[in-house]
Amino acid sequence: MSTVLITGAAGMLGSAVVESAPVGQDVVGVTRANGDLTDGDTARATFAAHAPHAVIHCAAYTDVDGCTRDPQRARRNNAKATALLAQECAERGTRLVFLSTDYVFSGAKAEPYKEGDTPDPINPYGESKLAAERAVAELLDDYLIVRTQWLYGPGGSNFVSAILNRAQAGEPLQVVEDEFGSPTYTFDLAPALWLAVASELRGTVHITNSGHCSRVELAAAALQAAGLADTGIEPIASADWPSPTARPLHAILDNSRWVQAGYPPLRPWQEAVEDFIATHFSR
Ligand SMILES: NC(=O)c1ccc[n+]([C@@H]2O[C@H](COP(=O)([O-])OP(=O)(O)OC[C@H]3O[C@@H](n4cnc5c(N)ncnc54)[C@H](OP(=O)(O)O)[C@@H]3O)[C@@H](O)[C@H]2O)c1
Repeated sequence: MSTVLITGAAGMLGSAVVESAPVGQDVVGVTRANGDLTDGDTARATFAAHAPHAVIHCAAYTDVDGCTRDPQRARRNNAKATALLAQECAERGTRLVFLSTDYVFSGAKAEPYKEGDTPDPINPYGESKLAAERAVAELLDDYLIVRTQWLYGPGGSNFVSAILNRAQAGEPLQVVEDEFGSPTYTFDLAPALWLAVASELRGTVHITNSGHCSRVELAAAALQAAGLADTGIEPIASADWPSPTARPLHAILDNSRWVQAGYPPLRPWQEAVEDFIATHFSR
């Protein structure tokens, strides 16, 4: 039985990927407790121990404001760690599925971004993920870069959970109204990643839940699904949100390559939000 290695297995997406593995699939999930991926010895020892035939690389430094404050840490954890893994994959002929982000784009395009659009990140997180993408493409032939967006799910800090926690605590909700994206449920993306790793797709592909919305629309849908619709939302401009980081305001990812390759589109974001809240949120 061939083995698939999941990095970042204690993270929000990585844990969903491990949990969603096809029946009978041999899976090895590694976390920071198994070693720091910025240290080349970690990848070498992990490959020596498990000889994976494929890797789904979910580990990353995902604190966007943290990346802005410490761009070197962003580059180390995102670009360098990915390059070390890709190097190991190249030496052993191992397929790599690398998780990337809409943040490689500025968000200035009116239309959804296609895979072939030229990346133009506007913050250190996006720059570090783009550097990682470039390392993967340079070192490997058998790779797939999966860009996704606005992830939420159990076991991680994310916008949907933050909104619900604040509403439950009776805290005021100021929400950005001019930032748009496709909220994506980790337990919808994870099965798609298992299809992706087994596929012959190479290069880059965009996978998100279907449809898109503003942050205010997402907050309202989450509150409605949680039975907290009477919670007030104060819409604000992203420029008024206290953050050191410039964020892409309209980096919607076009999913047509994934669908045209014969894979099922992920369900509409509204259904996924309702499912997440029904399954994981109790009042
Ligand atoms: N969250 C989103 O909205 C979003 C959107 C688009 C793309 N993505 C991408 O999707 C992937 C998964 O995101 P996520 O939200 O699930 O992230 P997450 O919850 O922050 O999980 C990432 C995991 O990686 C681990 N990690 C980071 N640096 C490491 C290192 N040097 N060595 C070993 N482990 C390390 C972290 O461990 P520690 O906690 O100990 O650091 C954490 O458990 C990432 O590649 C991210 O860039 C995320």
